Parts: sequence; C-alpha cells; structure tokens
Amino acid sequence: MAILDRERVARAADQVISLIEVARKRARMYPLHHPSVHDIVLKLLHAVEEILEFRSVASFNITQEEIFLDEIPLTKSTLTHADFVKTCTSNAMNTLTFRTGVTEGEITKLVQLLSDRAGNGDATSPLSMQEKLTESGVENIEAGTLVSSSELSLLRGFRSPEEEEAKRCRDQALELVWETYQNLFSGRVIDYESVELTAQSLVRGLLADRNVYRRLADIKDYHNYTFNHVVNVAILSLLLGADLGLTAEQLNDLGVAALLHDVGKLSVPGELLRKPGDLSDEEWHIMRQHPVEGARILLQQCGYRNIGVTVAFEHHAHYDLSGYPAIAPARKLHLFSRIVSLSDVYDALTSDRSYRAGMMPDQAALIILSARGKDFDPALVKHFMRSVGVYPRDCAVLLTNGELAIVEEPNPDDPLRPKVCLPHSGNKILDLRETQVGIRKCVDTGRTGMSPEQNDPVQTARTQPPL
Ligand SMILES: [Fe+2]
Ligand SMILES: [Fe+2]
Repeated sequence: MAILDRERVARAADQVISLIEVARKRARMYPLHHPSVHDIVLKLLHAVEEILEFRSVASFNITQEEIFLDEIPLTKSTLTHADFVKTCTSNAMNTLTFRTGVTEGEITKLVQLLSDRAGNGDATSPLSMQEKLTESGVENIEAGTLVSSSELSLLRGFRSPEEEEAKRCRDQALELVWETYQNLFSGRVIDYESVELTAQSLVRGLLADRNVYRRLADIKDYHNYTFNHVVNVAILSLLLGADLGLTAEQLNDLGVAALLHDVGKLSVPGELLRKPGDLSDEEWHIMRQHPVEGARILLQQCGYRNIGVTVAFEHHAHYDLSGYPAIAPARKLHLFSRIVSLSDVYDALTSDRSYRAGMMPDQAALIILSARGKDFDPALVKHFMRSVGVYPRDCAVLLTNGELAIVEEPNPDDPLRPKVCLPHSGNKILDLRETQVGIRKCVDTGRTGMSPEQNDPVQTARTQPPL
C-alpha cells in the first residue's frame, strides 16, 4: 500500500474511533433517531467506507493500551483513545471488524449496543457483544471477545443492581462533563439540558440510596483528574445538600452548579494544571483567574439568573472571604458556593495529584476541621462530617488497641466512632460508640506509593492548596 494511502487509512481509522465514542455518548443522552446521533452515525459510516475502499475488511485490534487497524498502529489521541479502549474492555471485546457492505442500520445498532446499559458491564446480561450483534441481525460487523459469555458474567463481579445503576449514572455524568469541556473548548455552546438531566439522575439515585453514592464519590482517576474531580464534587455536594434537607428541586440546581463549577479551568493551560512542583507567582495569577473565567463563560451561555455563575465565581472565595477572587466584605457567599467549596477541597485533598499522593479521609477531615470558620462554614463542616463521614464505609482503620478493622457503617451522630468489622475476630461487628476502643488512623496503604513526607497533610496543604 502506498505511503499516502496508508496515512489516509490511518486518519480514517482514528476518525472511526473518535466518532464511535461521540456517537456512544450522544446515544446515551438522546434517542437514536435524534439528529445529533444520526449525523454522527452517517459520518462514522463514511469513515468506515473510506477504509473499506482500500481493503474488504477493517479490523480494529485492541490491547490494554494500543489500538491497531490490522497492522497499522493508530496515534494515541488521549482521552478518546483511552475511552474507546475502556468501551471495548467493558464489553470484553478485543477486536471490532467492519466488512464491505456494512450499512447505516448496522452501524446504528452497534452504537446502540455500545451505549446500552446492557452492553456496558451489566452483570445481568449473559450475552457477549458478538452474540448481541448476531441476535440483532448485524452481519457486517463482528466483535471478537476476550472470553466466552459464560466466563464473562463471572468476570463482571457481583455488584448489586442498585450499585450498577449508580455506577452507570456516575459514568454518564463523567461523559457529560467530558463533552461539556470539549464543546466549550471548540467554541460550541453548553448542552444545558443534558447537564440538567444528568444532575437529576444523580439526585434521583442518591435520594434512593445514599450509601451507594458515598462509595461512588471515592472513585479516583489520576489521569482524568479534572473530569473525575468535577463528578465527585457534584456527588459530595449532593450528599451534603441532602443531609441539609434541600428539596429535590434545590438539589437538581446544586448538582448543575457543581458539575459546572470548574469550567473556568479551560482558560488554564493543561501543563499548568498538571505541573508537579510549586507554581510561580505568575502561574498562580493565571490559576486564580479560573473562577472569574468560569463565571464569565456561564454568564454568557446561561444568563445571570443561573446559580452556576455564582458558584463558579465564589467556589474559592472562602467563608471569611480571604480567598479569590476578592469579594465585597458585606456580602455572604451563597449556600451552594459554600457547599461546593467544601466538597471541592475534600475531593482535591483525597485525590492523587502530580505533586502529592491523595490523603486518607481522616487526614483530609482534619484539615477541613482546622479550617472551619475561616475557609469553610462551620455549620456545614459539621453536616459534611456527618454525611460523608470522617471514616467512610470500607475504609481500613487501625484501632487504639492495635487491631485492624474495616469501617462497616458510619455513625451520623458521632462521625469519629463508626461501626467497624473485625476481620481477625471472625468478622465481629463492633459499635465504637459502645466501647473505650477508638480509631488511631486510616491505614489504607494501597492508596499511595509516596513517601511519608509527601503524605504529610498539613505540609502538603500548605505548599499546594487545592484548586
Ligand atoms: Fe474544583
Ligand atoms: Fe476550582
């Protein structure tokens, strides 16, 4: 094959990957016949046909990190590339093959299956992707599977249907945040309706089972920090908002504002967001612009009545107004800004960053408690400790008697003394409110590979305030 033809095929193949991801994400938000899905399906069909001009079969081979079109390694296009690998992995696929004659209907079916709940890690679905394609009458697309369908259900774990549904809502929120940032980055408008729908589904799920969402807020992803951070901040804010007794409608607004709180980071260069070491004065100046930039973007796109504008503007201002941007002393921060600000710092402290390892929940709680009245609203800190817990469920802890335990259930009225499970004493459950034994510290050592100095919470909070 001539070099130019090979380049053309590789370019079309890259396009196929990103179009599959865009189509899959849109199909989760809109019906398949909606123009925003249909247009992408047509573009996808054209990109596949472009490859098939040069070969009768186009086979994408997926490994853990690489994607090849037959023998051609494809360029890594960061997030989209990684998302496609994730999509294939969650559907236990290691090849995706298109044959000459593939139709628009078949591509639509593929998009539907890849975006379907049943096609994405659903433990209750016994069929492999190939079996689903065959069952749907698709003849010109094939999915090579890593394992047989009977092995698949074993590998997919044993999450409860509630946890599966909550995880799906979280994934959907993650995709929405990704798409919102992509839209803004390319000068397009925010799909505000989708942001609202996503916030509503998080609120619905959370009100049905808060425990599941408490665990979800602890999912961290170092490589996709910004997007995961935003979703975690939304979940933590909703947990706190629900504990404060906000109505479902108020929680929906809070969810939207939390999902959009960091859009101003688009104005900060990526290298700066990921920079390991201390920032120079000039770099801090740029970083500190993001609340104003975020408010400006949201004001332009959503209007001044939108609570997202206020929250984006105020989320680093601090309870005593000592943060940034400078705010007139007579003014009090909006309740939603105070909630998001607290969740924002908690998630930033407990996440791994390029300059330090994520802290244990109790260390982060210590920092937040010590800053109440200054950075944070003291009344909200109390509720936050109750709703999120100093020692979240499943956290490994060392007790004052030297025994290791796993937190079974936080006690909302006494966050420092949860119920714990003692694995070395026949999984006995101990309510720490009813004993002299207390918790010395969290000991989830698998969380970080960094040195004790890098893990010193007070030191790291001092040198690198969370953004
Ligand atoms: Fe943030
Ligand atoms: Fe921020």
